[in-house]
Amino acid sequence: MTSREQWSAVDDYLVETAIRPDPASDRTRAATHEAGLPPIEVSSGQGKLMGLIAELAGARAVLEFGTLGGYSTQWFAAAVGPGGTVTTLEYEPRHAEVARANLDAAGLGDRVQIRVGAALDTVQELIDSGAGPFDVVFIDADKANNANYLDAALKLSRPGTVIIGDNVVRGGRVLDASGAGTDAEDVAGIRAYLQRQGDDPRLDGTVLQTVSGKGWDGFALAIVRDVEPAVAGAE
Ligand code: SAH
Ligand code: DHB
Ligand code: MG
Repeated sequence: MTSREQWSAVDDYLVETAIRPDPASDRTRAATHEAGLPPIEVSSGQGKLMGLIAELAGARAVLEFGTLGGYSTQWFAAAVGPGGTVTTLEYEPRHAEVARANLDAAGLGDRVQIRVGAALDTVQELIDSGAGPFDVVFIDADKANNANYLDAALKLSRPGTVIIGDNVVRGGRVLDASGAGTDAEDVAGIRAYLQRQGDDPRLDGTVLQTVSGKGWDGFALAIVRDVEPAVAGAE
């Protein structure tokens, strides 16, 4: 077995034992693959973790960048409970359509608003319309824009908001500061995001590396301590 097959087999074992299978989200994952969308949604364990984080945070309003077929969306929609909302931003109309069908089939569609368009535009519309604050934000769209999405998320946050960023390790390519490689723009966006999380006094976070059937990756988790930007010269 390759490492990736071993990581996948251990994930399967953990789902069967400690995590517990979740037929409703498994159906959404399968339907997303059957619809021909790329199989790049979060793992079962990470989906459950994000649902638990939303529950621990008492989240009633979640904002997501990058819907795909609604797999991660569904974990958040279940976690916010009746009366809670998930606002999710997706560029591809076809992905939004598949997600809409999946979330409706799961009986959670009423809680989810899918905004179709480039997330930089749709998130600006949210800011301009006075939306938020959100309790949890999940950043998982085009990685080149990660730092821009983090900036926007801060404008839609309150002290205590949790901000999660997916795919921040990318098989170790996060270390490649040279800008070489096929996903140079993505790596640059991820590095800018991580540097911002570390430098910005409004954020206090950590990063965990992960292995799964999708390989070696990681996610960033931060809490918003303050929402006012630091003023230069002020002490
Ligand atoms: N969060 C999902 C996976 C998202 S995959 C899950 O774990 O289940 C990344 C998604 O971001 C894709 O559906 C892709 O179409 C979308 N995306 C890419 N560029 C985007 C952009 N500029 N604005 C909004 N969404 C974008
Ligand atoms: C990939 C994985 C992701 O979770 C994602 O959001 C985007 C891309 C990938 O494996 O290429
Ligand atoms: Mg992802």
